[in-house]
Amino acid sequence: MSSPIKDARERVRAAKAIAVLTGAGVSAESGIPTFRSNGGYWQKYRFEDLATPQAFARDPKFVWQWYEERRRAIAVARPNAGHEALVAIERRAPRFTLITQNVDGLHDLAGSQNTIKLHGDIWIVRCLKCGREQVDRSELTDLPPKCACGGMLRPGVVWFGEMLPEGAMERAAAAVKASDILIVAGTSAQVYPAAGLIPLAIANGSAVIEVNPDATDFSDDVAFALHGPSAEILPQLL
Ligand code: OAD
Repeated sequence: MSSPIKDARERVRAAKAIAVLTGAGVSAESGIPTFRSNGGYWQKYRFEDLATPQAFARDPKFVWQWYEERRRAIAVARPNAGHEALVAIERRAPRFTLITQNVDGLHDLAGSQNTIKLHGDIWIVRCLKCGREQVDRSELTDLPPKCACGGMLRPGVVWFGEMLPEGAMERAAAAVKASDILIVAGTSAQVYPAAGLIPLAIANGSAVIEVNPDATDFSDDVAFALHGPSAEILPQLL
Protein backbone atom coordinates (compact mmCIF):
# COMPACT_ATOMS: atom_id res chain seq x y z
CA MET A 1 0.00 0.00 0.00
CA SER A 2 1.24 3.43 -0.89
CA SER A 3 1.51 6.09 1.79
CA PRO A 4 3.13 9.54 1.68
CA ILE A 5 5.89 8.46 4.05
CA LYS A 6 6.62 5.31 2.07
CA ASP A 7 6.65 7.22 -1.21
CA ALA A 8 8.94 9.85 0.32
CA ARG A 9 11.25 7.11 1.59
CA GLU A 10 11.45 5.64 -1.92
CA ARG A 11 12.42 9.04 -3.28
CA VAL A 12 15.14 9.41 -0.64
CA ARG A 13 16.47 5.95 -1.44
CA ALA A 14 16.56 6.59 -5.20
CA ALA A 15 17.97 10.13 -5.03
CA LYS A 16 21.40 10.85 -6.46
CA ALA A 17 21.68 14.27 -4.88
CA ILE A 18 19.95 15.25 -1.66
CA ALA A 19 19.76 18.69 -0.13
CA VAL A 20 18.34 19.31 3.34
CA LEU A 21 17.24 22.58 4.92
CA THR A 22 16.79 22.55 8.68
CA GLY A 23 15.51 25.03 11.25
CA ALA A 24 15.02 25.28 14.99
CA GLY A 25 12.32 22.57 15.03
CA VAL A 26 14.87 19.79 14.48
CA SER A 27 16.46 20.70 17.82
CA ALA A 28 13.13 21.07 19.66
CA GLU A 29 13.24 17.47 20.84
CA SER A 30 16.75 18.04 22.14
CA GLY A 31 15.20 20.56 24.52
CA ILE A 32 16.19 23.74 22.68
CA PRO A 33 13.38 26.29 22.27
CA THR A 34 12.38 27.36 18.74
CA PHE A 35 11.75 30.98 17.80
CA ARG A 36 8.18 31.07 16.52
CA SER A 37 6.33 27.99 17.79
CA ASN A 38 4.79 27.56 21.25
CA GLY A 39 7.30 28.58 23.91
CA GLY A 40 9.52 30.06 21.18
CA TYR A 41 11.85 32.98 21.90
CA TRP A 42 9.96 35.45 19.70
CA GLN A 43 6.82 34.92 21.78
CA LYS A 44 8.67 36.09 24.85
CA TYR A 45 11.09 38.67 23.41
CA ARG A 46 11.22 41.10 20.51
CA PHE A 47 13.87 40.04 18.01
CA GLU A 48 14.67 43.74 17.52
CA ASP A 49 15.96 43.79 21.12
CA LEU A 50 18.18 40.72 20.81
CA ALA A 51 19.05 39.73 17.28
CA THR A 52 20.00 42.89 15.39
CA PRO A 53 23.28 44.84 15.15
CA GLN A 54 21.38 47.86 16.50
CA ALA A 55 20.33 45.95 19.63
CA PHE A 56 23.94 44.89 20.20
CA ALA A 57 25.23 48.44 19.72
CA ARG A 58 22.63 49.71 22.21
CA ASP A 59 23.07 47.13 24.93
CA PRO A 60 25.78 44.49 24.29
CA LYS A 61 25.52 43.13 27.82
CA PHE A 62 21.79 42.42 27.50
CA VAL A 63 22.25 40.73 24.13
CA TRP A 64 25.19 38.69 25.46
CA GLN A 65 23.18 37.58 28.49
CA TRP A 66 20.61 36.05 26.16
CA TYR A 67 23.26 34.36 24.01
CA GLU A 68 25.08 33.05 27.06
CA GLU A 69 21.79 31.67 28.46
CA ARG A 70 21.23 29.90 25.12
CA ARG A 71 24.85 28.66 25.03
CA ARG A 72 24.43 27.05 28.45
CA ALA A 73 21.14 25.38 27.40
CA ILE A 74 22.75 24.10 24.18
CA ALA A 75 25.87 22.89 26.01
CA VAL A 76 23.85 20.23 27.83
CA ALA A 77 21.68 19.28 24.84
CA ARG A 78 22.29 16.11 22.84
CA PRO A 79 21.45 15.42 19.18
CA ASN A 80 18.13 13.60 18.75
CA ALA A 81 16.92 10.85 16.41
CA GLY A 82 16.20 13.46 13.71
CA HIS A 83 19.80 14.74 13.66
CA GLU A 84 20.99 11.13 13.61
CA ALA A 85 18.71 10.14 10.74
CA LEU A 86 20.19 12.96 8.64
CA VAL A 87 23.68 11.58 9.30
CA ALA A 88 22.54 8.13 8.12
CA ILE A 89 20.93 9.63 5.00
CA GLU A 90 24.18 11.51 4.25
CA ARG A 91 26.20 8.28 4.50
CA ARG A 92 24.00 6.55 1.93
CA ALA A 93 23.46 9.38 -0.54
CA PRO A 94 25.85 9.79 -3.48
CA ARG A 95 25.69 13.57 -3.02
CA PHE A 96 24.39 15.31 0.06
CA THR A 97 24.35 18.86 1.41
CA LEU A 98 22.87 19.89 4.74
CA ILE A 99 21.91 23.55 4.88
CA THR A 100 21.00 24.70 8.37
CA GLN A 101 19.67 27.88 9.90
CA ASN A 102 20.58 26.52 13.32
CA VAL A 103 23.51 27.90 15.28
CA ASP A 104 23.50 25.19 17.97
CA GLY A 105 26.05 22.83 16.39
CA LEU A 106 23.93 19.72 17.07
CA HIS A 107 24.24 18.57 13.44
CA ASP A 108 28.05 18.64 13.88
CA LEU A 109 27.79 16.78 17.15
CA ALA A 110 25.60 14.11 15.53
CA GLY A 111 28.22 13.63 12.79
CA SER A 112 26.88 15.51 9.76
CA GLN A 113 29.76 16.29 7.38
CA ASN A 114 28.84 18.43 4.40
CA THR A 115 27.09 21.28 6.16
CA ILE A 116 26.42 24.92 5.31
CA LYS A 117 25.60 27.11 8.32
CA LEU A 118 23.56 29.97 6.93
CA HIS A 119 23.19 31.80 10.25
CA GLY A 120 26.61 31.19 11.79
CA ASP A 121 27.54 29.30 14.93
CA ILE A 122 26.75 30.21 18.53
CA TRP A 123 30.08 28.72 19.70
CA ILE A 124 32.11 31.16 17.62
CA VAL A 125 33.04 34.57 19.01
CA ARG A 126 34.32 37.38 16.80
CA CYS A 127 36.27 40.48 17.79
CA LEU A 128 34.77 43.77 16.64
CA LYS A 129 38.21 45.39 16.68
CA CYS A 130 40.72 42.91 15.20
CA GLY A 131 38.16 40.65 13.46
CA ARG A 132 39.63 37.46 14.95
CA GLU A 133 37.20 34.55 15.14
CA GLN A 134 37.55 31.62 17.47
CA VAL A 135 35.56 28.79 18.95
CA ASP A 136 34.89 29.43 22.63
CA ARG A 137 32.67 27.01 24.54
CA SER A 138 33.62 28.32 27.96
CA GLU A 139 31.13 29.93 30.29
CA LEU A 140 31.38 33.65 29.69
CA THR A 141 30.97 35.47 32.97
CA ASP A 142 32.16 39.05 32.49
CA LEU A 143 29.78 40.26 29.79
CA PRO A 144 30.34 41.51 27.17
CA PRO A 145 33.48 39.38 26.77
CA LYS A 146 36.76 40.89 25.55
CA CYS A 147 39.32 39.74 22.97
CA ALA A 148 43.02 39.47 23.87
CA CYS A 149 43.48 42.67 21.81
CA GLY A 150 41.08 44.52 24.12
CA GLY A 151 38.24 44.73 21.59
CA MET A 152 34.68 43.64 22.34
CA LEU A 153 33.62 40.15 21.22
CA ARG A 154 30.28 39.42 19.57
CA PRO A 155 28.52 36.11 18.92
CA GLY A 156 29.46 34.58 15.55
CA VAL A 157 25.87 34.45 14.39
CA VAL A 158 23.93 36.31 11.71
CA TRP A 159 21.52 38.94 12.97
CA PHE A 160 18.49 40.37 11.18
CA GLY A 161 19.65 42.90 8.63
CA GLU A 162 23.12 41.35 8.29
CA MET A 163 24.72 39.57 5.36
CA LEU A 164 24.98 35.79 5.45
CA PRO A 165 28.50 34.34 5.67
CA GLU A 166 30.34 34.91 2.40
CA GLY A 167 29.44 32.36 -0.25
CA ALA A 168 27.04 30.43 2.02
CA MET A 169 23.84 31.28 0.14
CA GLU A 170 25.50 30.70 -3.24
CA ARG A 171 26.68 27.24 -2.18
CA ALA A 172 23.26 26.44 -0.69
CA ALA A 173 21.44 27.53 -3.86
CA ALA A 174 23.82 25.48 -6.02
CA ALA A 175 23.21 22.37 -3.88
CA VAL A 176 19.44 22.88 -4.05
CA LYS A 177 19.49 23.38 -7.83
CA ALA A 178 21.54 20.20 -8.25
CA SER A 179 19.30 18.14 -5.94
CA ASP A 180 16.62 15.61 -6.89
CA ILE A 181 15.04 16.04 -3.48
CA LEU A 182 15.07 18.74 -0.83
CA ILE A 183 14.12 17.70 2.70
CA VAL A 184 12.87 20.72 4.68
CA ALA A 185 12.67 19.97 8.40
CA GLY A 186 11.73 22.06 11.41
CA THR A 187 11.57 25.48 9.85
CA SER A 188 8.66 27.91 9.76
CA ALA A 189 10.07 29.09 6.40
CA GLN A 190 9.46 32.70 7.37
CA VAL A 191 13.02 34.00 7.22
CA TYR A 192 14.68 34.86 3.92
CA PRO A 193 16.90 34.22 2.07
CA ALA A 194 16.87 30.70 3.61
CA ALA A 195 13.14 30.13 2.94
CA GLY A 196 13.70 31.07 -0.72
CA LEU A 197 15.51 27.75 -1.17
CA ILE A 198 12.13 25.99 -1.07
CA PRO A 199 10.58 27.70 -4.14
CA LEU A 200 14.01 27.44 -5.80
CA ALA A 201 13.86 23.65 -5.39
CA ILE A 202 10.29 23.50 -6.69
CA ALA A 203 11.18 25.65 -9.71
CA ASN A 204 14.12 23.34 -10.46
CA GLY A 205 12.02 20.20 -10.36
CA SER A 206 13.43 18.91 -7.09
CA ALA A 207 10.84 17.04 -5.01
CA VAL A 208 10.41 18.79 -1.66
CA ILE A 209 9.70 16.70 1.44
CA GLU A 210 8.56 18.92 4.29
CA VAL A 211 8.75 17.59 7.85
CA ASN A 212 6.91 19.72 10.40
CA PRO A 213 4.11 19.19 12.92
CA ASP A 214 2.44 22.31 11.52
CA ALA A 215 1.68 23.57 8.04
CA THR A 216 3.83 26.34 6.55
CA ASP A 217 3.28 28.74 3.67
CA PHE A 218 4.83 26.12 1.39
CA SER A 219 2.96 23.00 2.55
CA ASP A 220 0.45 23.16 -0.30
CA ASP A 221 3.21 23.40 -2.92
CA VAL A 222 5.57 20.65 -1.78
CA ALA A 223 5.58 17.07 -3.09
CA PHE A 224 5.28 15.58 0.43
CA ALA A 225 4.08 17.40 3.55
CA LEU A 226 4.81 14.98 6.39
CA HIS A 227 3.21 16.25 9.58
CA GLY A 228 4.95 15.27 12.80
CA PRO A 229 8.04 15.90 14.90
CA SER A 230 11.32 15.48 13.02
CA ALA A 231 12.73 13.01 15.57
CA GLU A 232 9.87 10.69 14.61
CA ILE A 233 9.50 11.38 10.89
CA LEU A 234 13.13 11.69 9.70
CA PRO A 235 14.11 8.17 10.90
CA GLN A 236 11.17 6.85 8.86
CA LEU A 237 12.76 8.22 5.69
CA LEU A 238 15.60 5.71 6.07
P1 OAD B 1 11.05 28.90 13.85
O1 OAD B 1 10.96 28.96 15.33
O2 OAD B 1 10.58 30.06 13.07
O3 OAD B 1 10.22 27.65 13.34
C1 OAD B 1 10.34 26.41 13.94
C2 OAD B 1 9.51 25.42 13.15
O4 OAD B 1 9.72 24.14 13.68
C3 OAD B 1 8.00 25.70 13.19
O5 OAD B 1 7.46 25.64 11.88
C4 OAD B 1 7.47 24.55 14.05
O6 OAD B 1 6.17 24.13 13.63
C5 OAD B 1 8.49 23.47 13.79
N1 OAD B 1 8.62 22.49 14.87
C6 OAD B 1 8.35 22.60 16.19
N2 OAD B 1 8.63 21.47 16.84
C7 OAD B 1 9.10 20.60 15.90
C8 OAD B 1 9.56 19.25 15.93
N3 OAD B 1 9.60 18.56 17.07
N4 OAD B 1 9.97 18.69 14.77
C9 OAD B 1 9.93 19.38 13.62
N5 OAD B 1 9.49 20.65 13.52
C10 OAD B 1 9.11 21.26 14.65
O7 OAD B 1 12.56 28.50 13.51
P2 OAD B 1 13.36 28.71 12.15
O8 OAD B 1 12.48 28.44 10.98
O9 OAD B 1 14.62 27.96 12.27
O10 OAD B 1 17.39 33.52 12.86
O11 OAD B 1 13.67 30.25 12.20
C11 OAD B 1 14.47 30.81 11.21
C12 OAD B 1 15.36 31.88 11.80
O12 OAD B 1 14.57 32.83 12.52
C13 OAD B 1 16.35 31.39 12.84
O13 OAD B 1 17.52 30.89 12.27
C14 OAD B 1 16.60 32.60 13.65
C15 OAD B 1 15.19 33.04 13.82
O14 OAD B 1 14.96 34.31 14.21
C16 OAD B 1 18.04 34.54 13.43
O15 OAD B 1 18.08 34.72 14.63
C17 OAD B 1 18.73 35.42 12.43
